[in-house]
Amino acid sequence: MSLAGKHILLGVTGGIAAYKAAILVRHLCNEGAEVQVVLTQGAAQFVTPVTLQALSGRPVRDDLWDQEAEAAMGHIELARWADLILVAPATAHFMANLAQGAAPDLLTTLCLASDAPVLLAPAMNQAMWRDAATQRNAATLAADGKRLIGPDDGEQACGDVGPGRMAEPEALLDAVRAAFQSPRLADLNVLVTAGPTREALDPVRFLSNHSSGKQGYAIAKAAADAGARVTLVSGPCGLPAPANVECIEVTSALDMHEAVQARAAEQALVIGVAAVADYRPAAKAPQKIKKERAAQNDASVALVENPDIIASVAALPNAPVVVGFAAETENALDNARRKRRRKGLDAIVVNDVSDPKIGFNSDHNAATLIWADGEVELAYQGKEALAASLIQHLANLFFPSSGEGAGALAKPTPLSVAQSGRS
Ligand code: PMT
Repeated sequence: MSLAGKHILLGVTGGIAAYKAAILVRHLCNEGAEVQVVLTQGAAQFVTPVTLQALSGRPVRDDLWDQEAEAAMGHIELARWADLILVAPATAHFMANLAQGAAPDLLTTLCLASDAPVLLAPAMNQAMWRDAATQRNAATLAADGKRLIGPDDGEQACGDVGPGRMAEPEALLDAVRAAFQSPRLADLNVLVTAGPTREALDPVRFLSNHSSGKQGYAIAKAAADAGARVTLVSGPCGLPAPANVECIEVTSALDMHEAVQARAAEQALVIGVAAVADYRPAAKAPQKIKKERAAQNDASVALVENPDIIASVAALPNAPVVVGFAAETENALDNARRKRRRKGLDAIVVNDVSDPKIGFNSDHNAATLIWADGEVELAYQGKEALAASLIQHLANLFFPSSGEGAGALAKPTPLSVAQSGRS
């Protein structure tokens, strides 16, 4: 999608990644956007207004009290001018101010005064990003409707390694483009399963796995952002339900199966992200199992197979589009291709959970989306970004005519032959 004629207000705050703002301005202008750069005082220590003015073709704004600039376009006028505000990099200090609703400078004032969507690209030292206060502020900003892109994981300017690198300018450009796309799943019902299941052994013990729910919740959020009515059926993971998502909390695979079956008929799309236990204890002991049981040579647990939740949905007459996930540790692609066919799924998303940087309980993931006629890689990125990208691909593949802006997006680039439509 072109950004021709779109008014982008690019806020730059004081972090080393500020130098990448110049590349970003260039990308945005190349797409036809009109870019107004607003620098904080800190940002001006890292990148000069002259550079950004030359690239954007507009005088850079950096002062709420600049009478000359205010006379040309007052800050409220500027806030109204913006179709979208992107703050890249967004420092911990800037995020703290914004989360508090504090407006000590021009950029925070513009963010408060504007009705435009606000995208933030956090960038800071990994310890600052992990700090409880920053995480609290990030959660507040997300709950307030600001979209956080990144941060990425990796080597930092200070020599540390970890999460806190600003997302690359190309990823930010994608996010800006996506923000202008019409809702792709408008008015469709989408059900997402997420988190682990717990299979009770006795009143105090259970069998489970390491799923945190992060990937499933991110997908539920991305589907809601794409205009769908989303039901999230979640195993125990303690995450807050995303805005505009109905969350049904369950514990065991049988509970999840029942909750999904009860709602399957009204769904257009079911995405199984949950790490469902394949087996459960044949019987739950009524009382806590005593240690002495082992001494009596009775420490084994008989297991019975759980129903396959998504395969059952795929087998329904008039089944919705059903997309599964495959958590693999070896021969990931081949195993996933077989799993898709065996379960009768329209598509499957395979992630290699032997890599500790992705999959279970990490904030990042990398995956391949496989459908009957094609495959597309979803590169290593934050789980939210991967979720947004997956939803766009699924919309293109299975709901090409839904949403006002249908067709505006490029089709997924296939690794093999790709065709739209159900298998
Ligand atoms: O929750 P996170 O910490 O963010 O981690 C994300 C994740 C690693 C859990 C996620 O990305 C993922 O891979 N989810 C699928 C985990 C899994 O159970 O994979 P599987 O290969 O065992 O199952 C294949 C598919 O069948 C899955 O869609 C699963 O939801 C579904 N299934 C499995 C068993 C069962 N009885 N019923 C099912 O519906």
